[in-house]
Amino acid sequence: MNETIKSILERRSIRSYDLRPVEKEKIETILKCGQFAPSAMNRQPWHFTVITDRKVLDRISEANRQVFLQSDDEKMRERAKDPDFDTFRGAPMAIFVSGDREAKYAPADCANAVENMALAAYSLGLGSCYIASFRHALERPEGAHLLKELKIPEGYQPLYALSLGYGNETLGERAPRRENTVTYIE
Ligand SMILES: Cc1cc2nc3c(=O)[nH]c(=O)nc-3n(C[C@H](O)[C@H](O)[C@H](O)COP(=O)(O)O)c2cc1C
Repeated sequence: MNETIKSILERRSIRSYDLRPVEKEKIETILKCGQFAPSAMNRQPWHFTVITDRKVLDRISEANRQVFLQSDDEKMRERAKDPDFDTFRGAPMAIFVSGDREAKYAPADCANAVENMALAAYSLGLGSCYIASFRHALERPEGAHLLKELKIPEGYQPLYALSLGYGNETLGERAPRRENTVTYIE
């Protein structure tokens, strides 16, 4: 099996990490792979925010926890009470991907960038986890100061993040793929 297909089939979401920082060179390669994702009309309507200061991630996670605590959904309230609650899953860093609000396909384009980065990270021996739940905190008026702190450019909205680091999780079996999701028209 070639290395690309192997990476696609073997990549897993990682939710436990060593605190060892990720080397700058690897971060730069991962970002480059994100920037080379396909985008509608090649608009590249993304902005990448690299957060290696865990204290910043902690503040966002805590803001998220507060939102979860007030949720109508009992499951979310229970999650927020977990003393190990961490939106970024214990990773030492994360890359946020924000999309241009004016670009119709920005969510797809940014998602492509995240997946490219996740695969690149895997191929470099790193673990990663795609994260969207951080948006709960940032989308509320109370989260405006966090957006400012992240220096998200005007007109862009954070869509996804990729937690990154050296994983130390013992993974269980993969969930089976759903059946009947392919139709051939021949
Ligand atoms: C758009 C999107 C949002 C996600 N948000 C989160 C998240 O907030 N927290 C988390 O732990 N995992 C999140 N995930 C990871 C999924 O749970 C994971 O990809 C899925 O369970 C399949 O597992 P795998 O990535 O190991 O194949 C997200 C994935 C996607 C594509």
